[in-house]
Amino acid sequence: MSVLIKNGRVITATDDYIADIFIEGEKITAIGKNLAVKADKEIDAAGLLVMPGGIDPHVHLDMPFMGTFSSDTHETGTRAALYGGTTTVIDFVLQKQGHSLQAALDDWNSRAKGNAVGDYSFHMAVTDFNEATKKEINHFVEEEGITSFKTFMAYKGALMIDDRQMVDLMLEVKKQGGMVTVHATNGDMIDYLVAKHRSEGKLAPLYHYLSQPEITESEASSRFADMINYTGCPGYIVHLTCEGALNAVRNATKRNQKLFIETCIQYLILDASLYEQNFEGAKWVMSPPLREKKDQTTLWAGINQGLVNVVATDHCPFMWKQKLMGKDDFSKIPNGHPAIENRMELLFSEGVVKNKITINKYVEVASTNAAKIFGMFPKKGTIAVGSDADIVLFDPNKKHTLSASTHHMNVDYSGYEGWELTGKVKTVLLRGQVAIDDNKCLVKKGYGQFVKRNKVDTKI
Ligand code: URP
Ligand code: ZN
Ligand code: ZN
Repeated sequence: MSVLIKNGRVITATDDYIADIFIEGEKITAIGKNLAVKADKEIDAAGLLVMPGGIDPHVHLDMPFMGTFSSDTHETGTRAALYGGTTTVIDFVLQKQGHSLQAALDDWNSRAKGNAVGDYSFHMAVTDFNEATKKEINHFVEEEGITSFKTFMAYKGALMIDDRQMVDLMLEVKKQGGMVTVHATNGDMIDYLVAKHRSEGKLAPLYHYLSQPEITESEASSRFADMINYTGCPGYIVHLTCEGALNAVRNATKRNQKLFIETCIQYLILDASLYEQNFEGAKWVMSPPLREKKDQTTLWAGINQGLVNVVATDHCPFMWKQKLMGKDDFSKIPNGHPAIENRMELLFSEGVVKNKITINKYVEVASTNAAKIFGMFPKKGTIAVGSDADIVLFDPNKKHTLSASTHHMNVDYSGYEGWELTGKVKTVLLRGQVAIDDNKCLVKKGYGQFVKRNKVDTKI
């Protein structure tokens, strides 16, 4: 099967030009003006942007968490991602404390394999690092193609590791050619504030926010950066939200560290005033919480300064019924919000249309950098001869409104209900197949493939 995409405006992280793209099988095989080739299928892309498929390296699909499971499966979540122009996601496998990494991978494979619609990979979350776990790292990097190891500096008793384990893990992961990623907030300090608020009868969602002040994140980010500096292991901070944490990173860059930064779309465009409502604020109970307007300004600047490398989602959806588990106590509200389908369109409308970032920067932070940092480039993350034909045809002028009544995520509310956006995904190709066309999904469950990743290349 061959496809010719004609006359589109091709945008990569560095380029912007009009061309035709020829696809044979799963790969791009030629790019040029007026290509003289015959194809099984021709797509007229005049007036459309032609961009690499989005990569969301931070999603939680079908994940056991806080006494329930995130509500999107690998099927519904990767399908919704495709509708929104994201062709590859990286999901988190969570080690159960007291059990092996392999047992966790087997568990995730049993739910993901054969179910994904879009392409996916895994990070391995190490929640219990000991002599036995240490022996498993090499196998994950060399055999499984899982080269990033997630850690939590919070969620004590379930996911958190201490600094002794962290340094030990960093040294092993560095030796094996991987990367350590982190949820960088000070878990003990947060647990203290949660207990204090509960004992004072302060139980509304607002107190979730007030239990995780900026300092809890800046302190942990700074500590992580120092440990990365000491061990020489490449590091990546997930869902960074605020000025204090970004300043810790800014400081680390003076030491020329291999430290990469992700923020998420919600931290760029939503703020903590949403917690001032009644229980409705539970829709945005996530960790870290939404911050202030000044933090949004810092994050947009951080993107343009090259300090913030990736805009992800931390997609972790829960049905409203699940959120109600915490109606009398904010600490029981499952943490997370849905965005896997909305990220690319929100970032375009709020970032590119509003002149906060250029169109090339958009591609860089929504796709290319994640591919490079996580060992998938140039298979994924760009439009080039030899790359997978993961391509989004995007109408930059089309206006539309986000709503739970029209989205494809398996969740019964939207964090962005009624938002009017400019710019909409029209067609999505995944490895040469038209996966989405005019809001219809044309590929089936099982089409999504697991992407084995390479060792870490820190030269982005
Ligand atoms: O609130 C969040 N972020 N839920 C998912 C788990 C995590 O911390 O990333
Ligand atoms: Zn987290
Ligand atoms: Zn997360």
